[in-house]
Amino acid sequence: MEISPESSSNQDIYKILIGTVLPRPIAWVSSVDISGNLNLAPFSFFTVASVNPPILCFSPLLQEDSIEKDTLVNIKQTAEFVVNIVSHGLAQTMNRTSGSYPSHVNEFDVAGVTAKQSTLVRPPCVADSLVNFECKLQQIISFGSEPRAGNLVLGRVCTIHIHPDIVKNGEVDFRSLDAIGRLGGNMYSTIRDCFEMERPAI
Ligand SMILES: Cc1cc2nc3c(=O)[nH]c(=O)nc-3n(C[C@H](O)[C@H](O)[C@H](O)COP(=O)(O)O)c2cc1C
Repeated sequence: MEISPESSSNQDIYKILIGTVLPRPIAWVSSVDISGNLNLAPFSFFTVASVNPPILCFSPLLQEDSIEKDTLVNIKQTAEFVVNIVSHGLAQTMNRTSGSYPSHVNEFDVAGVTAKQSTLVRPPCVADSLVNFECKLQQIISFGSEPRAGNLVLGRVCTIHIHPDIVKNGEVDFRSLDAIGRLGGNMYSTIRDCFEMERPAI
């Protein structure tokens, strides 16, 4: 089976991409608008883009009517955000923040999420996330104005908060973090079934 994106609907391409590029980690992104209104939403088009300097990136797509999502609008206005990591115990709460609420709605309130003041940026951290990355906007790369066009937001990490419970022998223990991943449709994965492989020593 060979598929040409040019002759497929963006819905079909979306389904193929999210059903094959997986599991995807989830950036639970807190942001504020120019007036200080809080916003919180999950994004699974998310990864590390650079270590030195430390850069994280995620991609809010344009909506079906090509309107920008609140997170993107806010980051364009205030140039700051926090990426909070989603452990399994926070899955339901994270999911509640993914609804298409109007921009004035504070998803911290909607989902009963406790906010914790950040150190260097205005958007707060999610208090119950075991890892929070405070970020300052580095760059946004936009891929057009069509529905579902991506907007790659690159943020320079300026502070990292790690809960002591997930630090074992001086290192972050990913099993204790118990982060979830997004699969296709409404499916998610855990990282509980792992295997180890040594890299070739050349
Ligand atoms: C687990 C999960 C991952 C998501 N990942 C993305 C994503 O990578 N990009 C995107 O545009 N929307 C994604 N969404 C949908 C947004 O969270 C949703 O559109 C949200 O309402 C955006 O909020 P905002 O308008 O406050 O920014 C995801 C939803 C869920 C539940």
